[in-house]
Amino acid sequence: MEDILIVKGGTPLYGSIRVSGAKNAGLVLMVAAILAEGETILDNMPRIRDVEVMTFILNELGVRTEWKDDNSLAIYSPPGRIKTKTSYELSRMLRASNLFLGALLGREKEAAISLPGGCDIGSRPMDLHLKGVQALGAEVEIEHGYIYACTKRPRGNNVYLDFPSVGATENIIMMAVKTPGNTVIENAAKEPEIVDLANFLNSMGAKIRGAGTDVIKIEGVSELKPVRYAIIPDRIEAGTFMVAGAISKGEVLVENVIPTHIYPVIAKLQEAGAVVKETESGILVKAGDKIRPVDIKTLPYPGFPTDMQSQMMAMLCLAEGTSVIVENVFENRFQIVDELKRMGADIKVEGHTAVVKGVKKLYGTKVRATDLRAGAALILAGLVAEGETVIEEAIHIFRGYENIAQKLNHLGAQITVK
Ligand code: UD1
Repeated sequence: MEDILIVKGGTPLYGSIRVSGAKNAGLVLMVAAILAEGETILDNMPRIRDVEVMTFILNELGVRTEWKDDNSLAIYSPPGRIKTKTSYELSRMLRASNLFLGALLGREKEAAISLPGGCDIGSRPMDLHLKGVQALGAEVEIEHGYIYACTKRPRGNNVYLDFPSVGATENIIMMAVKTPGNTVIENAAKEPEIVDLANFLNSMGAKIRGAGTDVIKIEGVSELKPVRYAIIPDRIEAGTFMVAGAISKGEVLVENVIPTHIYPVIAKLQEAGAVVKETESGILVKAGDKIRPVDIKTLPYPGFPTDMQSQMMAMLCLAEGTSVIVENVFENRFQIVDELKRMGADIKVEGHTAVVKGVKKLYGTKVRATDLRAGAALILAGLVAEGETVIEEAIHIFRGYENIAQKLNHLGAQITVK
């Protein structure tokens, strides 16, 4: 299996690069497709490892999937009952497998969900997901690594989320759309992927209002119809390419991006000295003469995305001065620090804070992609490092980036996959 990326550093990137469909929207829409019977087609679906695993989970539940062309995925949700238990073997590969909790409760009134895996970026509890589905009438038991949930008399209700969890908001929406009565989610997540889920479900006949704000109101309906729908572009892939332009001292036009989704990254790149312009065809990023240090705090949307923190850290390793990065969303998102240090970075971590002192140069060496975004950040560091950076466990990168080596090589990067 291809699991190693070798990046030869030193070439500035020039040209235009097209962003694929959003991983985190694609995954939840695949799950939501089971809420309607019949053929749903999702366009702009990225061909990435996580999507492939999600098709396996759907197949295991009795839902057939088929690629219509490169990026259009058909999901055939059969009439009648489907299986309601996800397997440990597949679920451990994919955090988003936990989204079947709400969707299966919505469709079958029962679900047995293997406690999920995914990136090792901190403890990822499900208390808020459970609080939500319980408020809508589900009885829940946790036994032998599984969440068993069923509901005899589901009913809409008010749910306040202590933290605007993306997954919990999605699970509650997917259960609530087919639960009689009115559900109100307060302190809901506002990420663009939540809005995409609501738009998708509304096009199927659901009644969801307020997605994108912190109060989402849902009126349950008895039936949803299958549709054809195009997924939004991936804002994190876009951000990663923007940093690639800035860190490599090049000029990159990032196409197929919704600028409002990525404002915090644009703002921080500008603070760091890059020239960032919105054009008709995308966002143009031109590296500044030098990289200025900037401070970053990750927050739920519309704050700075935790999924862009590692990539920015890679860039700030080369800033002229000291940057402070505070990670407020996942406690274990600094595993990349040791890898960047192996490349010559000067970073100190205390609790949720990393102090990044800029160095003149990074050096290629063997490193490990500790998680998806860390892997992407190591590619970025490798683009400017002296010599060759060998990234092991690159499978993490393929989980979430479509053809990343080919795409960056098109801009002049020298990346090989082994
Ligand atoms: C989703 C994204 C992930 C992104 C994250 C935050 C998907 C498939 N993944 O993950 O890429 O990094 O949003 O933008 O869409 N929490 C609880 N209790 C819960 C649920 C969450 O305490 O019941 C905490 C988590 O431990 C974490 C924080 O809330 O500290 C954020 O998690 P959440 O928003 O749920 O992220 P995910 O949906 O897992």
